[in-house]
Amino acid sequence: MENLTFKNGDKMPAIGLGTWKSDPGDVYNAVIAAIKSGYRHIDCAAIYGNEPEVGKALQQVFNDGIVKREELWITSKLWNNSHRQEEVLPALKKTLEDLQLEYVDLYLVHWPVALKNEVGLGFPDGADKFLSLDEVPLTETWKGMEQANQEGLAKHIGVSNFSKKKIQDLVKACTIKPEMNQVEMHPYLQQKELVSFCESEGIHMTAYSPLGSGDRPARSKKEDAPVLMEDKTIHSIAKKHGCSAAQVLISWAVNRGTAVIPKSVNPERIQQNIDSAKINLSEEDLQTIADLDKHYRFIDGAFWAMEDNSYTLESLWNE
Ligand code: A2P
Repeated sequence: MENLTFKNGDKMPAIGLGTWKSDPGDVYNAVIAAIKSGYRHIDCAAIYGNEPEVGKALQQVFNDGIVKREELWITSKLWNNSHRQEEVLPALKKTLEDLQLEYVDLYLVHWPVALKNEVGLGFPDGADKFLSLDEVPLTETWKGMEQANQEGLAKHIGVSNFSKKKIQDLVKACTIKPEMNQVEMHPYLQQKELVSFCESEGIHMTAYSPLGSGDRPARSKKEDAPVLMEDKTIHSIAKKHGCSAAQVLISWAVNRGTAVIPKSVNPERIQQNIDSAKINLSEEDLQTIADLDKHYRFIDGAFWAMEDNSYTLESLWNE
């Protein structure tokens, strides 16, 4: 298994299990199946609403002696309703309580969008539930993240859904630099400029929705959306290698030096996804896939851009 190496030498396995959209009733078995299949990296978030069940599964594998805490890489994310500096540690402590852990390996600011604390772990039902980035700047949120790191509750800290500009602004003002940017990435959204910028800053990247998130919520489904898992080019490459389309997509992400977190709650697919580590795509395959880029977001963030709030798609992605 490929690893991403951090500045202090810590290693994050390139393929992790995604848990977004995994029902609380399914995720317990999924995490146990994944760890038995050899996964050592689980990607979580408070907003996924399933951290208590992930925590129970982790306790189970520790108690059964299948793996030790220090052999796992656990990522979680700060929800948008806790962006004020003094709200960050309490939010992380709740995640740690749910996951039954003393620390997470990586803690990320989930979105560059701030909500009032009263929204809780959910989505806002109106423009009045937002806080603008002038009211709660990302640099303020980051101070809370730095504190989490200094107190040893998060071994590494980073961001998610951040543009090059937002990272540049953060880097100028921070004491501890972000070490990760987790964004949507797949052959239809290759993010080449962001990947090379993060590389130049020594910031790792993780690809979410690597399979095109066919099970994404209705709020993010457009009628004319392409279906990545049905892409003919990906299927012809898969056929050549005697593997599945999902495996080509995962292998492509690893080949670019990013981490990748395919979500599955099905034990066979969980196994299949980690087995992607064995597939070697050729230079020709990589070139063919490079040509598929269409800068298409399955998760376009439109749910943050409400009429009468201070967020727009342009201000979200800076493009
Ligand atoms: P399931 O959980 O039933 O396996 P993404 O990681 O891009 O968000 O995609 C997740 C979606 O892809 C889920 O619907 C998941 O379903 C499905 N999926 C995960 N792994 C595979 C696979 N190897 N083959 C086909 N579909 C998969």
